[in-house]
Amino acid sequence: MQRNQSIGYIDAPVPKDLDLKVAVDMLRKAKNAVILAHYYQTGDIQDIADYVGDSLALAQWAAKTKADIIILCGVHFMGETAKILCPDKKVLVPDLNAGCSLADSCPARDFAKFVKQHPDHVVISYVNTTAAVKAMTDVVVTSTNARQIVESFPEDTKIIFGPDRNLGNYINSITGRNMLLWDGACHVHEQFSLEKILNLKKQYPDAEVITHPECKQPIIQVSGFVGSTAALLKHTITSDKKQFIVATESGVIHEMRKKSPDKEFIPAPPNDSTCACNECNFMRLNTIEKLYNCLKFELPEIFVDEEVQKKAIKPIKKMLEISEKLGL
Ligand code: 13P
Ligand code: SF4
Repeated sequence: MQRNQSIGYIDAPVPKDLDLKVAVDMLRKAKNAVILAHYYQTGDIQDIADYVGDSLALAQWAAKTKADIIILCGVHFMGETAKILCPDKKVLVPDLNAGCSLADSCPARDFAKFVKQHPDHVVISYVNTTAAVKAMTDVVVTSTNARQIVESFPEDTKIIFGPDRNLGNYINSITGRNMLLWDGACHVHEQFSLEKILNLKKQYPDAEVITHPECKQPIIQVSGFVGSTAALLKHTITSDKKQFIVATESGVIHEMRKKSPDKEFIPAPPNDSTCACNECNFMRLNTIEKLYNCLKFELPEIFVDEEVQKKAIKPIKKMLEISEKLGL
C-alpha cells in the first residue's frame, strides 16, 4: 500500500474479485461516512453515492450531515467547501489531483489585487474558487442561485463577479446588471462547438439544446434552456420534449437517462476533439477503486488553513441562508 499523498491518491491494489459496491457499502456503514457525488462523476460512483447533486446541493448536504467522514466525489474546491463548512469532520476526496481549470484561472494573489483596485464593490464569487478566494468574498454563489443572489443586492450596487466570465456575462444579460467580471473560464464548457451543435440540430430537428451557463454566449443563444446541472436535469424530467442536445459535461446524462429512460440525450460535441462527448478530465480522475481505497485508508484528506476557513465560511453560509429563504 502506498500512502504517498504526493501522487494525490492511495495507490493500493484492489482485489480483482472484490465486489466494490458491497465493500464500499460495508466500509461506509462501519465508519459512519457519507458519500456525496457530483453529476459529473462516472455512473458507477453516482450509483454508489448516498447523494448525487450539483455544487449547491453538495454544500447543503455537507452542512447538515451527521456523518463523521465526508467523501466528496467531485473536484478539490467541492471538498474544500465541505471542509470549510465542517472543520471538525474528516473530508476526503478520492483523488486530490481533481482540480478545476476555472478555479485555477483565478489565483488568490491576483484576485486580491483586483478586489483592492475596486474597494467600493461587493465581491460575489462562484463556488468554483479556492478557499483563499472565498476568504476575500462577500457572498458565494452557484449556478443554481447566482441570478437570485445578484438580484438580492440593490440595482445600483457595484459588484465584482468572479471567476467565470461566461456565467458573469449570462447573469449580466438576464438581470440587466453591469457586474465587473474576472476573466476566467472552464476548459470543458468553453470547448463546445457551435457549428457541431447546429449540425446536430439539423440531424435532430425536434431536439432542444440545453446548456450550462459556463458555456460561451453563442451556445447560450441557440439554447432552449440554460441552467445548473440540477436545473438541466429537472428540465429534462418536466419538459414534453423527447430529445435533448446536452451542452455540459456528459456525466450528467447518466442521471438524465435514469430519470427519463424514454428520452434521448445527445452529448454536445467539443471543438477540438475526436470524441463525441465532453468530459472534465479532473472530475474523471476519481474512480470507484480510488473511492474504495479512500474510504478504507481515510486518505487523502482535505485541509484548509484555519484563518482562511474562518473567513471563507461567512460567504458560504450567507449563500446557504439566502438559498434556504428562496427555497433552493
Ligand atoms: P453545477 O453547480 O451546475 O453542478 O456546476 C458545477 C461545475 O463545476 C460546472 O462545471
Ligand atoms: Fe471545473 Fe469545468 Fe471541471 Fe466544472 S467542468 S469542475 S468548472 S474544470
